[in-house]
Amino acid sequence: MSVHRSAAPRYTVTGGAVLRGKVQISGAKNASLAAMCAALLTDEDVILTNVPKISDVDTLGELLVSLGCVVERLGNGRLRLNGGGVRLFEAPSELISENRASFQVMGPLLAAHGYAASAPPGGDVIGQRPIDVHLEGFRALGARISRDGERYVAEAADGPLSLKGARIFMDYPSVSGSQNVMMAAVLASGHTTMVNAATEPEVQELAHLLNAMGAKISGIGSQMLEIDGVRELHGATARIMPDRIEAGTFAIAAAMSGGDVEIDDAPCGVMDALLAKLIAMGTSVDRAEGHLRIRGARELKSVNFQALPYPGLATDLHAPMATALTQAHGVSVIHERVFDNRMLYVTELLKMGARIVSTGNSAIITGPTALNGAHVRALDVRAGAAILLAALVADGVTVIDDIQHLDRGYEHLDTKLRALGVQIERS
Ligand code: EPU
Repeated sequence: MSVHRSAAPRYTVTGGAVLRGKVQISGAKNASLAAMCAALLTDEDVILTNVPKISDVDTLGELLVSLGCVVERLGNGRLRLNGGGVRLFEAPSELISENRASFQVMGPLLAAHGYAASAPPGGDVIGQRPIDVHLEGFRALGARISRDGERYVAEAADGPLSLKGARIFMDYPSVSGSQNVMMAAVLASGHTTMVNAATEPEVQELAHLLNAMGAKISGIGSQMLEIDGVRELHGATARIMPDRIEAGTFAIAAAMSGGDVEIDDAPCGVMDALLAKLIAMGTSVDRAEGHLRIRGARELKSVNFQALPYPGLATDLHAPMATALTQAHGVSVIHERVFDNRMLYVTELLKMGARIVSTGNSAIITGPTALNGAHVRALDVRAGAAILLAALVADGVTVIDDIQHLDRGYEHLDTKLRALGVQIERS
């Protein structure tokens, strides 16, 4: 697997499309990344299907290969991973800085090999992203944590497979923290209870994969996970769940453009918070298992929302929802409650004529506003999505630079939008 880092690509979008047609949702970015790390817990093949072709998957794949893991695209969204040849337990810092999920190699390496080292994780600049919850979890399982320059080093006193089950209180229900500690605990001897674990669908998915590999995790979906450690895990095959954030982004796009879009493979069962808001805005939402039809209202209504841990409205949909609210009648108030710097999209939306007052982690949006095309940037993956949605309804042409951020999380985004009637070019 190799990562292509071309010079910053851009989208040129002609506004005014009313989205119509069908779109197929790809596999979930964050579920894929965690599942790939889980392959480090066994010598046998882990086969993942429905893995999206996005750069975050490529970057993590490259990191896993550098550790000695086999990462092979089998075609058609199938990925074969084999951790049997892993001999290096240290994530190269140039790769870790690109992607937050990379730090999730720590838990499995520590459990299986007794040693793991990594620089702090990278990823989007969306606020402070501490890792205390990960490290405290490892410590509770008996690991010694130290700093060696930039790197965190985690060591199990008695080597491979020597972690010991414990009762762990997660100070914050961190998504990747819960996944990381869970991956360490499945191979720890005895019983582990994780209290205040994250309940995000991607955490649940990882727990199901680990169980398919032979782990014993119960309480999946609750904030209290019970784990009976096992001596070894075996291979498994799992289908990556569809991406609720991608599905949500298309649903918002359909709603705000006044369109009529059918979304196939939408994980409706984990999208309640968003769908409730879209309905409150006046959108017509027809949902069935794995299928959504969104028809935009002639006149959207303003709503207030808070971005919260699951099952609240996902922080990853905050920015796209903010764009939709620029088209709604009235004043909408938004509070970001998960990250402390998820407002990067505001400056770019202001360039397009949006009326937004933002203080700290809140924004007040007054609508509807006729947005104008502009030269803007995708500042992170979700801020980029927000700007792209704005471009869809703007008057004239919008040029969006730095869309490599969008490539991190959205598969074939321009192709999918073109099929819905959007004029969008990539260069
Ligand atoms: N936090 C702590 N201590 C920790 C870890 C996190 O205080 O040890 C705090 C963070 O400062 C933040 C909050 O907890 O304020 C949430 O962070 P969390 O750890 O839950 O997020 P994450 O695991 O870093 C994952 C997704 C994000 C998604 C969040 C929240 C991956 C690779 N990333 O991040 O996805 O926004 O959960 O749902 O799974 C994205 O896809 O655009 C994205 C950023």
